[in-house]
Amino acid sequence: MKFFLDTANVEEIKRVNELGLVDGVTTNPTLIGREGKPFEEVIKEITGIVDGPVSAEVVGLKAEEMIKEAREIAMWAENIVVKIPMTEEGLKAVKVLAGEGIKTNVTLIFTVAQGLMATKAGASYISPFIGRLDDISADGIKLVADLRKLLDTYDYDTEIIAASIRNINHLEDSVAVGAHIATIPGSLFPALWSHPLTDKGIQAFLDDWKAYEDKLEDK
Ligand code: E4P
Repeated sequence: MKFFLDTANVEEIKRVNELGLVDGVTTNPTLIGREGKPFEEVIKEITGIVDGPVSAEVVGLKAEEMIKEAREIAMWAENIVVKIPMTEEGLKAVKVLAGEGIKTNVTLIFTVAQGLMATKAGASYISPFIGRLDDISADGIKLVADLRKLLDTYDYDTEIIAASIRNINHLEDSVAVGAHIATIPGSLFPALWSHPLTDKGIQAFLDDWKAYEDKLEDK
């Protein structure tokens, strides 16, 4: 199971990367906008920190615009993956880019049919959005499970990035249904290694150790 960080914040990436937990990074125009720095500068900084795939998204809507942007973005670093929105124009772009050896991550996938189209067009990654489906009372995890079944049944190489992860359940369920990758917001990471019973257990062990030492001293 690979972990990607779903952020464009360089400090956040550095912090989690120090723990050896970052296999890649995903960004989107919203996340880039939050940083208030030029797109190219942020992406180049991230690709300098992380060895794995770093997704950077196009903003054009026509295939020709996406292809032009993608070719430029792909030159910024070797580990770039170009994020392309799931539209008819996006599919056209993915096909051309795949032919040129440029890796793509097709984003905003909400149905199995969309995942299949993107895969057949030649996407390296597909990103089903779990949280946004759950927001409209649909089943985000079922989509990830169905996509995994699809890829295995027909032996496609495309990998699933479970995206729009908002809580631990989303992550644990993604693992259970076989997402290849989960992209996780930096803010969720501390919750992944913490548990109140762990903290309580540590405190109890320290208290018991103190009592034991006090007893030895009294002897
Ligand atoms: C990742 O590729 C997506 O852009 C991201 O996970 C979207 O998350 P959100 O639905 O919480 O904005």
